[in-house]
Amino acid sequence: MSHLTNKNIVLGVSGSIAAYKAPDIVRRLQDLGAEVRVILTQGGAQFITELSLQATSKNKVHDNLWDKEAELSMGHIELAKWADALLIAPASANTISNIAAGKACDLLSSVILASDCPILIAPAMNQQMYASISVQANLATLVQRDIQIINPEHGVQACGDIGEGRLPESDKIAKQVGLMFQSTKLSGKKVLITLGATIEAIDPVRYLSNHSSGKMGSALAEACIEAGAQVTLVAGNVSVELNQKAEIISATTAEKMHQSVMKNINGQDIFIACAAVSDYSIKNPENHKIKKSNQTLTIELTPTKDILKEVCKLDKKPICIGFAAETQNLLENAQNKLNNKGCDAIILNDVSNADLGFKSDENAVVFIDQKSNVKLAKNSKQKLGRKIIEIISEKFL
Ligand code: PMT
Repeated sequence: MSHLTNKNIVLGVSGSIAAYKAPDIVRRLQDLGAEVRVILTQGGAQFITELSLQATSKNKVHDNLWDKEAELSMGHIELAKWADALLIAPASANTISNIAAGKACDLLSSVILASDCPILIAPAMNQQMYASISVQANLATLVQRDIQIINPEHGVQACGDIGEGRLPESDKIAKQVGLMFQSTKLSGKKVLITLGATIEAIDPVRYLSNHSSGKMGSALAEACIEAGAQVTLVAGNVSVELNQKAEIISATTAEKMHQSVMKNINGQDIFIACAAVSDYSIKNPENHKIKKSNQTLTIELTPTKDILKEVCKLDKKPICIGFAAETQNLLENAQNKLNNKGCDAIILNDVSNADLGFKSDENAVVFIDQKSNVKLAKNSKQKLGRKIIEIISEKFL
């Protein structure tokens, strides 16, 4: 079960022979879904190369507090803000001492001072050094500051000594980091969401569309990401910034949206159709701008494919949640859509009210499935998004 999906981990690697294990620690953190950036201390660089850590983390390795270029892109403050957790593995006696003393003498110690996220430290050193009064006193200080210590293991050491001081296996360390984050029913689940408006060309300058801004779909995506899901967004025309932790696929026509969803639906656990997809496209869009005349103009429309209905018919269908944008006979129309499309639930919103539904920052919905109707009163789309995701998790996962 993945616990680090959408989590950013800064791995500090300091001067211990166990630093050779750091690329494997990066991999095990990635296996749990994390994005990893590495800070390599001068001591750490004596045991492992920057290149191996760059290749495994797929990010530039940070190693210098005074690097002008790094400060322009991601300096120590940005790195500290970026991190959801800081892991120092291996942590040398010197690094532990710096942290306990509150020093800002290198990049790693400065990032630690500047961060307010959970910190985990995995000491690794000679057994006599580890048992020393100074190291033990420093570790006790760190525990008092709520820093979590990943205890070293007992065994034969690189120097030939036998005792406590060996770095635990990489997967054990990664799992310990995962435990810092509460797992939800959505942790590691795959969610595909359509959002925004489709655009159907009449001619090169005119089109048929609707008022969807993508705000509701984006709020749902944020809630899923927060809950640890792997999110794919198939986005029509949107006027909001989408969370870059999601995979974003642009699909501005009903046909492209249909193709993109069908191409990516395999393996998804949940499908949420929040997009306002045009029910019709222009049968024969003009290649050139239609000229003005005094004659009546008739534009022939042709029905588009119903994406939600098609996904609901798949043999291995994900949990399918639709939206119903209604202006009259609200509950009755929504109930019909639930049955006609064959989805697990439909979320009704009244789009006749200018303050709700399309473009607005707020919405009010009814979550309808075969067993019950749950009314969610007017609230910000962010709060409703979280509530909707909570209901989906409780009812269907
Ligand atoms: O984007 P915002 O400005 O925040 O506005 C949010 C919203 C009002 C667009 C959203 O809450 C909403 O109601 N989305 C669905 C709009 C819609 O097209 O509803 P519908 O009742 O016409 O369609 C029913 C369902 O079928 C929807 O899930 C729709 O995505 C899906 N559908 C419709 C047509 C089609 N060809 N393919 C589909 O998948």
